[in-house]
Amino acid sequence: MLTSPILLDYQSSTPCLDEVVESMNPFWTKNFANPSSKSNLANINASAVLEVSRERIKEYLNLKKKKIIFTSGATESNNLALIGYARNFFKNNGKYGHIITLKTEHQAVLEPLRKLQKEGYSLTEIEPEEDGLISQKKFLDALKPETFLVSIMLANNEIGVIQPLEWIASICKSKGIIFHSDAAQCIGFMPMPDLDLLANMITFSSHKIYGPKGVGLLIIDEGIEIEPLSLGGGQEFGLRPGTIPLPLVVGFTKAIEIAINNNSQNAEQLSFYRDNLLKGLQENIPSIVVNGSMDKRLPHNLNITFLDVNGSLLHKRLKSKIICSSGSACSNGKPSHVLLALGKSLREAEASIRLSIGLMTSSDDIEKTIIEISKIIEIIKYK
Ligand SMILES: Cc1ncc(COP(=O)(O)O)c(C=O)c1O
Repeated sequence: MLTSPILLDYQSSTPCLDEVVESMNPFWTKNFANPSSKSNLANINASAVLEVSRERIKEYLNLKKKKIIFTSGATESNNLALIGYARNFFKNNGKYGHIITLKTEHQAVLEPLRKLQKEGYSLTEIEPEEDGLISQKKFLDALKPETFLVSIMLANNEIGVIQPLEWIASICKSKGIIFHSDAAQCIGFMPMPDLDLLANMITFSSHKIYGPKGVGLLIIDEGIEIEPLSLGGGQEFGLRPGTIPLPLVVGFTKAIEIAINNNSQNAEQLSFYRDNLLKGLQENIPSIVVNGSMDKRLPHNLNITFLDVNGSLLHKRLKSKIICSSGSACSNGKPSHVLLALGKSLREAEASIRLSIGLMTSSDDIEKTIIEISKIIEIIKYK
C-alpha cells in the first residue's frame, strides 16, 4: 500500500490552526471593507478591527515602546528595516556607513545587505563558531567607528540555534548603532525575551507560527526613521503603503495569541519528540553529526549530517518517505550557505537534512522516521 510521506518540515511553513481559520472567516465575505479608508461606516469598522489587532499584538508580545508595521511577511520586513534604515542614514548623513551581519542569516537579510554593499555601504559578514553561535570577540573586532547598523537573527531557520542577542543589543546601544533582528521562526517556540530591549527593529512572520501566509510584522522603536520602499496611500505610518489584508492580520493576531499562551507546553512537546528522534537515529546510526548547538536551540529543529553517504542518493531515497529540508545541491541547486559557514565541506553539506517537528507530529511519525532513515542509511552508506 502506498503511504504518504511523513511531514517533518514545519520550519518551512505551518498549517493554519482551526481557531485561526475561524477568526479570519467573517473578514473574507461579510466584513470585507477597506481598513485604510474612513469614508463610510463599514470602512471605519474595518479600520477599528485593524487597530484592535495592532493593540492586541502589542499586548501579547508585551511591547510598550515599539511601533507595529504590518507587512507581507518576514522577507518584506527585513528589506524594509535594512534598506529603509540604511537609506535614511545616507539621507541624514550624506555618507555610506558600515553594516555588520552574520554569514548564516536568511537570504532575506543577506540579499538586501549585499545590495546595499553594491550601492556603496560597507558590509562585514561574521563567520559563526562551529556551533553556529556568534562570538563576542569576532563581533567586537568587526565594529568600526562608522558602523551604524547590525542585523543578527534571533534563531536560525536551518540549524535552530538561538543567538545571544542581549550582549549584542547592549554593545549596539552603547555605541548608538541600530540593531535589527530577524525573529521569523521564534514566537511560540521559546520564552520571548523583552522585545522592547532586544533590538531596535524586529521581524516576524505569520506562516511559521500556524498563522496564514502573506502577512508579517516589523516592529520598530518609536522614533526610528526609515525610508519606505514603496510609495502610495500612506498606510502603516507611510512606511508600507497599500491596502492591509485584514483577514490575514486578524488570523496572524490569533496565531500570536495562541502561540504565546501555549509557548511552554508546545516547546516541551516539540523538544520531547525532537530529542526522541535524535536518540533513535543516534542508536541506529552512530556516525550522525548534529549541526549547531543543542543547548541553545529551537525545540522543533534538528539538523544532521550523515558522514558516510552520498547526499544526492540520500535525498532521492528520502523523497517518498519523509518531507524534510535540505539546503543541498541535490534539492534546490545550492548547498546550504549555513552549513558551509559552519565549516562543513560541500559533501557534508549535501549529506545533511533539517527535520522540523510540528504540533501535528505524533510519536508514530517519530518512530517511523527513525526506521525509514535508518533503513535508507544502511542501504546507501559507503561500505
Ligand atoms: C529566519 C527567516 N527569515 C525570513 C524568512 C522569510 O519569511 P517569509 O516567508 O514570511 O517572507 C524565513 C522563512 O523561511 C525565515 O526562516
